[in-house]
Amino acid sequence: MYIVGGTASENVAKNLCKELQATYVKKVSKRFPDDELYIQILDDISKEHVIIVQTTYPDQKIIELFLLQDAVKEAGAKEITVVIPYFGYARQDTKFKEGEPISAKAMAKLISLNADKTITIDPHKEHILDFFTIPSYSCSAIPEIAKYLEKKEDIDMILAPDKGALERVKQAAKIMRCDFDYMEKTRIDGTTIEIKPKNLKAKNKNVAIIDDIISTGGTMAKSIKQLKKNDAKKVVVACTHGLFADDAIKKLNSAGCDEIISTDTIESKFSKVKIAPSITRLFHQVNLR
Ligand code: R5P
Repeated sequence: MYIVGGTASENVAKNLCKELQATYVKKVSKRFPDDELYIQILDDISKEHVIIVQTTYPDQKIIELFLLQDAVKEAGAKEITVVIPYFGYARQDTKFKEGEPISAKAMAKLISLNADKTITIDPHKEHILDFFTIPSYSCSAIPEIAKYLEKKEDIDMILAPDKGALERVKQAAKIMRCDFDYMEKTRIDGTTIEIKPKNLKAKNKNVAIIDDIISTGGTMAKSIKQLKKNDAKKVVVACTHGLFADDAIKKLNSAGCDEIISTDTIESKFSKVKIAPSITRLFHQVNLR
């Protein structure tokens, strides 16, 4: 088995290589003077099962994925599995208003053209998998996040910032054998949310808020403030996909956040949790080799 790492996900690809005892494919990746991307696969991968690992965020990484898929196909791979650690555009998973695209579907259809199967981690909603026209699987980073929190932080309670995050939080609470609660959030627009005031039993507790995505940080910041009002001792935030758009970090810090944790689906200095073990588990569970 051979693994090609796109520039958005080189660490994940290398970790996956170790886990699956695969060969890391050598390639050339550079920019033409006009900034167009040039890709060349250097190893012989003909008749092999090749896994391409690439997060589709930001936009430039999508083009890179398409070129990698084509290069791998042209090089004669027998089978192509595309691992998308963070599947960008997933939140536009329906037409909210007339005239809009279903962006998640548009992306999935294009990725499916040069692949035999796909894997993504904690997709925003599971139904997104149906947009791919090839077999698609998802796995969760929650077991890895829960293990990290158990080892590094002394957590008494986990909080879901909205009902959408509740199932993930329940799963983490089960692994960590601790209490959990949730908040009721209403999204007004892309940058504004409202959280219903709630009396959380957080007094003197160390609390971890877990969500799939931190984008502008608004959801987490409001939840942190509510926990602080309820006299929580320590508040850490953890997510699978840390986008940290605009001044998200500043927002989290000024709300009183004690620690920011994300996985490496989007690589940043907060990528404290590795997702390669989750992907490996899925490979073994559904026998994807
Ligand atoms: C929404 O349903 C997601 O699960 C996250 O809660 C959301 O994307 C977070 O966005 P932000 O950080 O901008 O509040």
